[in-house]
Amino acid sequence: MSDAEEDQRQFLHLTATLGEPGSGRRRYAAAMHFNRRGLLSDGALEVYRICSARDGEDPGALLKARGLLGEVPVQSRSDGALAIRRLIAEADHYLAGLDGPGLAEVRQGLAHWRDYVPRARPGPANKIVDRWLAPALGSLTADFPGLSAAIAAAAPHLDWITYDLYDPELIGADFMQGHAFASLVGEAAPVKAEDWDMGLFLIAPHVLYRDHRHRAPELYAPLTGPHGWRFGVDRPLTILPAHRPVWNEPFRPHLTKVGPEPFLCLFVWTRDVNDPAEVLAASDWPELEAVRIKATE
Ligand SMILES: [Fe+2]
Repeated sequence: MSDAEEDQRQFLHLTATLGEPGSGRRRYAAAMHFNRRGLLSDGALEVYRICSARDGEDPGALLKARGLLGEVPVQSRSDGALAIRRLIAEADHYLAGLDGPGLAEVRQGLAHWRDYVPRARPGPANKIVDRWLAPALGSLTADFPGLSAAIAAAAPHLDWITYDLYDPELIGADFMQGHAFASLVGEAAPVKAEDWDMGLFLIAPHVLYRDHRHRAPELYAPLTGPHGWRFGVDRPLTILPAHRPVWNEPFRPHLTKVGPEPFLCLFVWTRDVNDPAEVLAASDWPELEAVRIKATE
């Protein structure tokens, strides 16, 4: 039986008819199943335990009284929540295999958030995701099949945003129309976190994400490559391969020139997530926008 089929079966037990003999214990056993899966919180499990002794007692009423209704699975969203949970676990596993500054801080933060119960928050269809996510995952699959499959499974349950409130003159029309991001952990994300943000970031091939900086310390873990980078206005580009993490201390200028493959990365902001980014004027954006990085660089 697949996980999804098992979840469906357990969901029938979780919602067993009130008053049916043995239903209190069946509900509690199903709650333990979903708790192990990370889809039902410890607080909600305690409610099912309390109600397990009396088959006619509705756990829903006590969940509501304790403000826990959002911490149990509902049929329509259990698949999405499970997919997001898996992706966060895969992301943590992937980050554990990387070396570099910031990674210890990032993983320490993630250890705090990764066991919270996610809520799937699908958003509207996104053109950039529809066009570029599959090719990006195509190149990730060979080396990291688990992470690639987890991203593919979770992507439809995420709220992908192409941020359109920048000044297009400043950020560039290519970037404005050529990127999408989705938070996994964050203030409006499936795992609600305060002042911490982790998600996926996707940019179309060849797009220039111009020089900018922000207060938040930031990790980029690029899952595709090569792409061009620089960490100071008007400096030359450095070409970095996939899986070479980039850590930006507060206010470090950074620019990304996407290579021939779409840019897909895990990003993490470890604090000061509500401080806005600032674009830094440079004289060479037109040349960088015209640059074409080769796949073999
Ligand atoms: Fe940044």
